[in-house]
Amino acid sequence: MQLLRPECPRCREKLRRNGETLNCSGCGIIYPRNSGVIDFLTPLSLAKELTGICDYFDNSSANYDSMIVTMVEELKCPWREYSELIERVVIEARKKLIVDLGCGTSFPVGSFIPGDSHYLGLDISSEMLKQSHSLFEDDSNTSLWRIDVEHLPLPDNSADLCLAFFSFNVFINLEKTIRQVNRVLKADGELFGNIALTLPQENSLQPFRSISAQQLKELLTGLDRLGRELVTERKGDILFFHLKQATVLL
Ligand SMILES: C[S@@+](CC[C@H](N)C(=O)[O-])C[C@H]1O[C@@H](n2cnc3c(N)ncnc32)[C@H](O)[C@@H]1O
Ligand SMILES: [Zn+2]
Repeated sequence: MQLLRPECPRCREKLRRNGETLNCSGCGIIYPRNSGVIDFLTPLSLAKELTGICDYFDNSSANYDSMIVTMVEELKCPWREYSELIERVVIEARKKLIVDLGCGTSFPVGSFIPGDSHYLGLDISSEMLKQSHSLFEDDSNTSLWRIDVEHLPLPDNSADLCLAFFSFNVFINLEKTIRQVNRVLKADGELFGNIALTLPQENSLQPFRSISAQQLKELLTGLDRLGRELVTERKGDILFFHLKQATVLL
């Protein structure tokens, strides 16, 4: 597994570590590290529509884990089955760079990361990332970055497995995000995640928007230039998706 080499999200130059900060030799921006999280957003301006989403998740972070368990059950998927499905794929990702898009608190995925892989959790909400940091503490196989997924500070062809649990229901520009995912995924890399097909009745998780299985399929297969195979599995009103190299039948 190669070392993580973050790029400047603004100009895409390589970043140099200088003590606790990352410095861009191209545009001169200095990205600070606060409470174990590298902050790629504070030095840049955050789009207005993202500020609302960020505030919402900052304010929900303390209760988020129990909210998500309730939501999964409301979507007619028993929590045990939900977490087992995630575990099944993630524990197989040995010696990989695993990039979690909109990682939130990293619950429940954080406990399934193989010890020989590197987990990179990405989120705009510093409060969600703080919760995630308290799960991993200063584990050297984990990095947490505060970023906007539309500008992934990662080189092309660098990630083995991208994860996106319920995040595609929240990202503003899904097409742009999926293009970024395709850019950073290695040729044999995979994308695994899920979406809520209906919104919880109370829609207590307000920034959630519904996406249909068809919309998701069109985006994932339409933007993939490598002919990966899309496998889906529905559990209640949750659709799991796994985009991976097509199986060759001999
Ligand atoms: C519904 S939560 C999902 C959290 C977690 N993946 C889970 O399994 O519960 C969506 C997460 O995406 C983050 N998010 C929303 N828009 C984002 C963006 N443009 N870039 C990075 N993170 C974003 C939110 O802060 C939030 O933590
Ligand atoms: Zn730069």
